[in-house]
Amino acid sequence: MAIDGPAGSGKSTVAKTLATVLGWSFLDTGAMYRAVTVEALRRDLDVEDYDAVGRMAGSLAIETLPRVSVNGRDVEDDLRGERVNEAVSAVAANPQVRRHMVERQRRFASVQPLGTVVEGRDIATVVFPDATLKVYLTASLAERARRRGDEGESSIARRDVADTTRAVSPLRQAAEAIVIDTTGRDVANVVEEIVECLNTKISS
Ligand code: DC
Repeated sequence: MAIDGPAGSGKSTVAKTLATVLGWSFLDTGAMYRAVTVEALRRDLDVEDYDAVGRMAGSLAIETLPRVSVNGRDVEDDLRGERVNEAVSAVAANPQVRRHMVERQRRFASVQPLGTVVEGRDIATVVFPDATLKVYLTASLAERARRRGDEGESSIARRDVADTTRAVSPLRQAAEAIVIDTTGRDVANVVEEIVECLNTKISS
């Protein structure tokens, strides 16, 4: 199942809950781009240097569960810092980085015993165009900023622009995606709606 949408739209919480409810695996692809960013900053690389960051990304062992790690080093607590929030859009716009991450995402899903709930920006459009169900979550900017806590509206709005206007795999709604506005809705309610859609899809 592919779940896409902008920052703070509820993707992670909804996707994690869905995976638990369905007994499926879960993959947070944003955490992978963040992990590459943490490592690039740790190595003092210029995140605009696409070649250097791309080469580095291809050489990293990244795990996302149970915690996010890079080459065995736990980076979970470093993923959402201000420096990473600022630098991650450049890393995610790097075609070489995306190529490496997409390959890993496909490999991950291919070895899971049951299904996988994958959340990100380009999951339905690029990574898994044949996903059984494609979901696009949205919410108002004010609510998304509230959910993100420390990251203010202006930072989220800046990332929205970067993520939707970049040349490679921009955030876009897939034509067949069901669109759910999560503003003012609780997680259980959104999850229930998606499970119903999945059941309808599977039985049709
Ligand atoms: O979902 P998130 O905020 O943790 O994602 C971090 C950044 O990574 C975000 O700015 C967009 C980018 N991203 C992406 O380009 N493609 C994905 N599949 C997932 C995230």
